[in-house]
Amino acid sequence: MTTMTYDAHRESVAGRADVEDTPELVAYYGDLARLKTAALWTVANKIEPWQPKSESVPVLWRYRDLREHVLRSVSLVTPEKAGRRVIYLDNPGRREVAAAVGWLYSGLQVMHPGEAASAHAHSTSALRFIMEGRGAYTIVDGHKMTLGVNDFVLTPNGSWHEHGVEADGLPCIWQDGLDIPLVNALEAGFFKVHPDMHQQVAYPVDDSLALWGAPGLRPHDVGWSKPYSPLFKYQWEPTYEALKRLAAASEGSPFDGVLMHYTNPLNGGHVMATIGASMQLLRPGFESKAHRHTGSFLYQVAKGRGYSIINGQRFDWQERDIFCVPSWAWHEHANASATEDACLFCFSDLPVMEKLALYREEALADRGGHQTVLPAA
Ligand SMILES: [Fe+2]
Ligand SMILES: [Fe+2]
Repeated sequence: MTTMTYDAHRESVAGRADVEDTPELVAYYGDLARLKTAALWTVANKIEPWQPKSESVPVLWRYRDLREHVLRSVSLVTPEKAGRRVIYLDNPGRREVAAAVGWLYSGLQVMHPGEAASAHAHSTSALRFIMEGRGAYTIVDGHKMTLGVNDFVLTPNGSWHEHGVEADGLPCIWQDGLDIPLVNALEAGFFKVHPDMHQQVAYPVDDSLALWGAPGLRPHDVGWSKPYSPLFKYQWEPTYEALKRLAAASEGSPFDGVLMHYTNPLNGGHVMATIGASMQLLRPGFESKAHRHTGSFLYQVAKGRGYSIINGQRFDWQERDIFCVPSWAWHEHANASATEDACLFCFSDLPVMEKLALYREEALADRGGHQTVLPAA
């Protein structure tokens, strides 16, 4: 018979739990367990770490490895049967909750011309970032949006939404990003299938852009009270142009280069309540300094090639690759080209960290702000 041990998390530091097992205490812990209770000092050091301890591991998902397998799913399952035909990013440290990193889910979805997924709504918040193809569209609460490569679109909490590819388009692949693990952890997940399976398009195509997409301008007498951005779609070209203009006018951040957040045009805040997103430009040859912060971040390379060092591990990336930075992991990014920009799309749970007052950030002070790179495993 194995004896239970209760003192595995002892720390001999003043103010921390440091109670050694004795036969009397072990018997006491047994009595407590029978009453569905336990002594805090047996677990306190484990459940209150000195600093965040992410279960997620840094991962680079190379698109050139994934793409053929994503395309294979087309011949294996229909969107009708699968609901959503998606290959999801399964972080080895977060398999139990199907997270790509932290409390964020992400997957690659493929759709062929003429295919359309059924309309549904959920209390999770979702976004899509278009990776390849032509003719993709999304309909959110009757607003239809046409989508091109590197466009970013929201399907917020509670909205009816569906997507497809026009019959005269090309096979499309996009990245989905959702807060499914977070919403499940909060035990607040709801899902509905649309009673008619599809929505009616109720407005002119791309009307959200016409209403809310003019920089510095707001339409007169048009109200909006929902807790997410009315501008559902953020196009690549104006985003890249804005980054280039900013790069010409500002140094940017030593940790992120030239970074702009996608915002709710009504208040300048994050696009949705639980998920924020950004696009950043790394100038040719730029090497950022390292920092770490709370929150989980998932990057997709929208343009160029380079590398990121995450907790000492170097990941070389190129266009369409996806990688994650877990909470409180040291990270720095570099553009490997001496002539071309590199751009990183990113989504994260930053709005949650900020609203819950849990955001912390720290710059690496040593070695000129750069990590020591560990030898490749
Ligand atoms: Fe959805
Ligand atoms: Fe960062």
